Amino acid sequence: MPGDFLFFARRAFKAPGQVGAVMPSGSALGRLMAAGLGSDSGPVVEIGPGTGSLTRALVNAGVPEENLTLIEMDAQVCALLCRRFPKARIVNAPAQEMPALGLSNIGTVISGLPLLNFPHSLQQEIISAVFQVLAPGGRLVQFTYGPRPPIAPEVRDALRLGWQRRGKVWPICPPQVCMNFTAPHPIDFRRRAAHRRRNQISGRNQETRHVRSPGNPHRIRQLWPC
Ligand SMILES: C[S@@+](CC[C@H](N)C(=O)[O-])C[C@H]1O[C@@H](n2cnc3c(N)ncnc32)[C@H](O)[C@@H]1O
Repeated sequence: MPGDFLFFARRAFKAPGQVGAVMPSGSALGRLMAAGLGSDSGPVVEIGPGTGSLTRALVNAGVPEENLTLIEMDAQVCALLCRRFPKARIVNAPAQEMPALGLSNIGTVISGLPLLNFPHSLQQEIISAVFQVLAPGGRLVQFTYGPRPPIAPEVRDALRLGWQRRGKVWPICPPQVCMNFTAPHPIDFRRRAAHRRRNQISGRNQETRHVRSPGNPHRIRQLWPC
């Protein structure tokens, strides 16, 4: 929208590492990120929406505003988003706190976060949080610049993430590339952390084991090697 460039540039000047760009994404990237989503996609979460250029693309694709949760850590940006998307749920919080917001079984998380700017420990916190709220088979849609995934290899390995390119936007140089990230099966991070702690305490070799799920004692859930 007119005026977004100045607003965005001011926010970027104030917190360059957090914003990670000098202007909002264009509509071509928005269409690519929103591809496949629509009125029947159920709840969609967007993390780091900024001024809402990707959010607008989601709404244009048919995702009802009521189905959107926007998680943005800049309070001034949240105030702008509230005016622009009055029916969406807007949360002024860091994305890594998502699991505490009561979100679960989400089909798609869209991310405009500048992950390349983040230390790997923060990447891991955020991406773990994303996969805690995603439903089994859910996906994280993230854009980056250039051909490489913006999530560090050690973070991808630790979380056993798969990824694929969905497309790119020319003629920006380097091109903006949209990627899907998925986990092979539901990740139970709290259990994995507890498992890791137990193994550290007992000094056991870390190995894949099976445990019973507390919710359903008959269901067996696999823990990955930590
Ligand atoms: C590059 S802007 C994205 C803007 C928009 N998605 C776009 O593509 O035009 C990144 C946004 O992420 C927000 N942000 C950065 N770190 C965050 C975090 N840990 N949790 C939530 N929002 C964050 C920033 O405040 C900023 O508004």
